[in-house]
Amino acid sequence: MIYTVSIRQHDSPVPVEIGQTILEATLTLGVPYPHGCRSGNCGSCKSRLFAGDVEMSPYSEYALSDDEKADGRISPSNGGTGKIASPPT
Ligand code: FES
Repeated sequence: MIYTVSIRQHDSPVPVEIGQTILEATLTLGVPYPHGCRSGNCGSCKSRLFAGDVEMSPYSEYALSDDEKADGRISPSNGGTGKIASPPT
């Protein structure tokens, strides 16, 4: 199964396969998504979810606090399925 993610800074939808993170999918396509550790520890990829849902694997509180998550932020390096996300501008 493949989900599609729309990213504000990229013209085309990004297909994300089951077991793949949003960050992995964008980098595979050559989308210059901000990132660092790729594992949910640094917070460099933190993004705002505008619509849809993202299922995230465990991540560091340093990378994404509960308050940030409650405010609609996600960690694309840990988001396995999603619909619409945008990296910070
Ligand atoms: S790249 Fe480090 S938390 Fe996403």
